[in-house]
Amino acid sequence: MPAVVLVGAQWGDEGKGKATDLLGDRVDYVVRYQGGNNAGHTVVIGDQKYALHLLPTGVLSPNVVPVIGNGVVVDPGVLLSEIDGLSERGVSSERLLISADAHLIMPHHKAIDKVTERFLGKARIGTTGRGIGPAYGDKVYRMGVRVQDLLDPGILRKKIEAALQEKNQILTKLYNRRAIEADKVLEEYLGYAERLKPHIADTSLILNRALDDGKTVLLEGGQGTLLDIDHGTYPFVTSSSPTSGGACAGSGIPPTRLTRVIGILKAYTTRVGSGPFPTELTDEMGEWLRTTGGEYGVTTGRNRRCGWFDAVIARYASRVNGVTDFFLTKLDVLSGLERIPVCVAYEVDGVRHDEIPMTQTDFHHAKPVYEEFPGWQEDISGATSFDELPPNAQAYVRTLEEMSGARISAIGVGPGRTQTLQLHSLI
Ligand code: GDP
Ligand code: IMO
Ligand code: MG
Repeated sequence: MPAVVLVGAQWGDEGKGKATDLLGDRVDYVVRYQGGNNAGHTVVIGDQKYALHLLPTGVLSPNVVPVIGNGVVVDPGVLLSEIDGLSERGVSSERLLISADAHLIMPHHKAIDKVTERFLGKARIGTTGRGIGPAYGDKVYRMGVRVQDLLDPGILRKKIEAALQEKNQILTKLYNRRAIEADKVLEEYLGYAERLKPHIADTSLILNRALDDGKTVLLEGGQGTLLDIDHGTYPFVTSSSPTSGGACAGSGIPPTRLTRVIGILKAYTTRVGSGPFPTELTDEMGEWLRTTGGEYGVTTGRNRRCGWFDAVIARYASRVNGVTDFFLTKLDVLSGLERIPVCVAYEVDGVRHDEIPMTQTDFHHAKPVYEEFPGWQEDISGATSFDELPPNAQAYVRTLEEMSGARISAIGVGPGRTQTLQLHSLI
């Protein structure tokens, strides 16, 4: 009864989609447990490239049941267009299950996400503008609309009217925007309800029963550890818990059933949006990493900020997630460098820190302490085993492993399904 959690170990976009897809033929269920369509997970199968936002990556594996857990915020219009887009490409989402307890992203959430960001000006978070923060805000405020409300038009109307009574005041009086009409929203969402009804389920019950029956469940995180609402670089974070603890709360699978935690770790670092990033390179080296690694947002198309590998962050991710195995991605991107710097600690006002500083102010002032390692010139994208890697690439991997607090069990040498070197089994 393995229940395996897969988490991003940095600021998102580590290659979670590829890693989840790779495990697709060995699992029975793939569950998204938090986040929403702020995520963009890329999967490359042969010459086909898929960008998934809300659907769990397992939808691409014919024998997997994809599940949207209770911890996710669902934009039903986006979900249906994602389902239709895949259907046009011959991928069926018929097996999809959606937790009745998941919350819905409503039109006012998207409107408020956009206006509040504009209002913040230079202090903006750089959100994806998908209504994620306002939807989680209303969930915590106990004002949210849930997936199960789609099954009861009377309740749905009441909830939409109650929410808009407050939100329209905010939109019109505070931000000078147009009010949103409850009737129109109701009609739109009842339309979604018709199509989503067959997928709505008690997913916590189904998943626990599946584990009882010896099935394998993979819990696929969105975002990454440093974007976690509690453990990330607050306030420059997303509004949910991508860390492994969130996998239980967001799926209804208890901690005692988790068997492994796989941390997805890029061989360098990227971040989208605002917030501290000690190893960020704003020079031509950063631009080189961006173009060589194709570091452009899957969801918003924004340039990703790029920098060297940060071992302090990796160790932190290992600690707060209880990582048992790391999947190191994009090693191939570093081919061709003479020397590769790795951040081993920070210096804050002349004091060395081997761990992330306790306060955000100190973290903002953290200067990376680098050690340099020799690079390799060979193209490694065709390697099929660790032994085939050039000695300096092997040494780089071993160095990261020693610094990161858990063994490296797989290495990505390209975006394709087959471009993976397996060192230890992951499930
Ligand atoms: P996710 O959000 O964590 O699923 O990651 P994204 O899909 O946003 O970004 C990762 C990008 O790197 C995608 O374009 C992947 O196809 C690509 N990718 C994943 N693993 C590797 C790898 O090992 N090497 C290379 N070159 N690209 C990879
Ligand atoms: P995947 O799953 C990278 C970032 C946004 C912003 C912050 C808050 O593909 O790794 P939000 O819209 O969530 O309120 O924005 O979080 N962010 C991501 N960055 N990858 C993601 O997802 C992200 N999802 C949100 O850029 O800085
Ligand atoms: Mg992504």
